[in-house]
Amino acid sequence: TGTVKLAVVPGDGIGPEVTAEALKVLEAAAPTGARFEPTRYDLGAERYLATGEVLPDSVLEEVRGHDAILLGAVGGKPGDPSLPPGILERGLLLRLRFELDHYVNLRPSRLFPGVTSPLADPGEVDFVVVREGTEGPYTGNGGALRVGTPAEVATEVSVNTAYGVERVVRDAFARAQRRPRKKLTLVHKTNVLVHAGAVWWRLVQEVAQEFPEVTVDYVHVDAAMIFLVTDPARFDVVVTDNLFGDIVTDLAAAVTGGIGLAASGNVNPDRTTPSMFEPVHGSAPDIAGQQVADPTAAILSAALLLDHLGHPEAAARVEAAVLADLAARTPGATRRTSEVGDAVAARVTG
Ligand code: NAD
Ligand code: IPM
Ligand code: MN
Repeated sequence: TGTVKLAVVPGDGIGPEVTAEALKVLEAAAPTGARFEPTRYDLGAERYLATGEVLPDSVLEEVRGHDAILLGAVGGKPGDPSLPPGILERGLLLRLRFELDHYVNLRPSRLFPGVTSPLADPGEVDFVVVREGTEGPYTGNGGALRVGTPAEVATEVSVNTAYGVERVVRDAFARAQRRPRKKLTLVHKTNVLVHAGAVWWRLVQEVAQEFPEVTVDYVHVDAAMIFLVTDPARFDVVVTDNLFGDIVTDLAAAVTGGIGLAASGNVNPDRTTPSMFEPVHGSAPDIAGQQVADPTAAILSAALLLDHLGHPEAAARVEAAVLADLAARTPGATRRTSEVGDAVAARVTG
């Protein structure tokens, strides 16, 4: 209760379109006594192209003073020469995740009733990927030599610290412990990435001692792609590194009804900084500005935000409204982005 200070970063492409709907639903779902006070930050491609600024330090410090962050998407059209790849992704999105120590990237995957999966017989799909958020090949540890020559060498070194791996593994175990099936699957590539693999394997075995009720399972990431398609119901909690988690969760989204439904939270479980909630998808330049993007992923991300801020009932109301909206969809019919937001918000207020 009280005022919830929300930093809103709509970003690029469909980001502003879906964020507007998430905010609409969030405000409709506000629990009695709580009021959302959104502050909008115009970060992204437009600002960068106009001013060269990506995330000024002063803005980062302001954002730090909020209770949570709602983000749309950042990044341009792949291949667009005016916006080199990585500037916004690294300088804005990853900088926020790293500076705010979002070491748990929570990405739930559920096949909701009435939603069509591309799989003929998917079964009961309900798992959550706990993706490490601050390390792996994402740290920027690497470089290039003799760029542009036939002798060019490029490296991106994966960073895996015992500290970083242990804390995300412990969070994943704690989540598994709270779920009915109590099963944790480590997804990695220990047969090739032997150094990083050994750290992940060892810490999973060690932390497992604290959670005797949790069943521990291991699958190589390539085989995990098979099982995600042939038997996605086998997964409960998946813990994995930053890059594997990125790839696994796009496929997970595809098998559970599409990228337009996949929500995520970049969480700092220690609550020393604001956590950040955003859809799994990107800025979708191919459909931007047309009001055809599905805002459901952004809306479900807002539900994760509510839950994180200690409003589980409000989160459940948003989720129930989304489930009802999904179940009522007519196959083949299209609605505008804002119509989906209006419909969900109406169901939330009842
Ligand atoms: P993308 O997720 O933006 O798009 C992939 C495909 O999914 C596209 O066909 C798109 O139209 C579709 N799609 C995405 N969201 C949708 C929605 N809500 N409703 C309906 N269809 C949707 O991935 P991409 O094309 O690889 O990346 C585009 C840009 O976004 C790049 O600059 C990339 O770096 C960036 N990106 C940002 C984030 C983020 O901000 N978290 C995440 C992924 C990609
Ligand atoms: C995501 C995106 C980001 C990631 C990019 C844009 C940095 O793909 O949130 O899934 O790889 O984490
Ligand atoms: Mn991704």
